[in-house]
Amino acid sequence: MIQRSVHLRNLIQSSSIGSLSKLRTCKFFTSQAAAASLPQVCEPSVYSDEEYADIDWNNLGFGLMPTDYMYTMKCTQDDNFEQGQLSPYGNIELSPSAGVLNYAQGLFEGTKAYRREDGRLFLFRPDQNAIRMQIGAERMCMPSPTVEQFVDAVKQTALANRRWIPPPGKGSLYIRPLLMGSGPILGLAPAPEYTFLIYASAVGNYFKEGLAPLSLYVEDESHRASRGGAGGVKTIANYAPVLKALTRARNRGFSDVLYLDSVNKKNIEEASSCNIFIVKGNVLSTPATNGTILEGVTRKSIIGVARDLGYQVEERSISVEELMDGDEVFCTGTAVGVAPVGSITYQNKRVEYKMSAHPMCRELYSTLVGIQTGLIEDKRGWIVDIN
Ligand code: COI
Repeated sequence: MIQRSVHLRNLIQSSSIGSLSKLRTCKFFTSQAAAASLPQVCEPSVYSDEEYADIDWNNLGFGLMPTDYMYTMKCTQDDNFEQGQLSPYGNIELSPSAGVLNYAQGLFEGTKAYRREDGRLFLFRPDQNAIRMQIGAERMCMPSPTVEQFVDAVKQTALANRRWIPPPGKGSLYIRPLLMGSGPILGLAPAPEYTFLIYASAVGNYFKEGLAPLSLYVEDESHRASRGGAGGVKTIANYAPVLKALTRARNRGFSDVLYLDSVNKKNIEEASSCNIFIVKGNVLSTPATNGTILEGVTRKSIIGVARDLGYQVEERSISVEELMDGDEVFCTGTAVGVAPVGSITYQNKRVEYKMSAHPMCRELYSTLVGIQTGLIEDKRGWIVDIN
């Protein structure tokens, strides 16, 4: 018990959460409008001082592995988020008429915490997730946390769950910030109250293929996004509609689905869970983000790394025929990382990539990992040390 209190005090001092008493206060919402109750904020009973959680670190996949704490912060009509707090990971209470449940007024983000060989813990560009959430919130008519509030909350969540950050090389702690219309609403309108919540899970490779090349299926019946829609932001509303095509493709043995633009039905956009790049000669190309494609943080980082290495990078329209004629193809995303594509199937035609060794993909990936692990100097300030 004493050990737990000491740890909790250290945790609080190492972040800007404020006073220890805040964490120990059980907080209840009495207002009827407060339809989504914050979990009771008490000193958690699950805390352990061990360096690592007792799990098999050699077999992490991308399944949910709940950790010790989550973070919650609420905002009512005045558009300001109040002081957030950590609490034990657990279920939340929502009104059946919450905006997020009825009208999908919600966004999510994904970012990761890593452990270096020297034991130091760090985040990768969490400010970019914060900015993307703000842009998405504006599109979905929601207030959003400031960049500072967002990054601070991610730091607190990572530190509180530090025993779930895998040993170096075994994976990472995937951190999932959510922003949702949690207040009750019946007629179609923005919700009267919002909840920002972060939970985390220890993860390894996203695809069951591990690091082996992916097989993608090009979908020509349904589309992921349309012009003027919300495909460019990370709203939860973009993900359920792809499940049908994704499930069908997975049942046929494919790793993921690649979507085409909904106007011409000939240009590639992105896959269900990641962005896509094509290499031809010394040129790296990726579909331009024009409102239908998500501005991935890994996408942006790979473009920066490639330009630094002297490659020509083009953001433009890419036809499916051009894709199939590429030398290399690879996918990028926070969950996915940088994943080489081994084959693409489109209208019963399958191509396998000539450069099965994926030299440019490997170079870009190892440069990015080098920056993350400290082997390569982080000249851009992408790494946020959270020790
Ligand atoms: C991420 O890369 O963080 C995502 O949100 C993709 C998701 C489908 C797992």
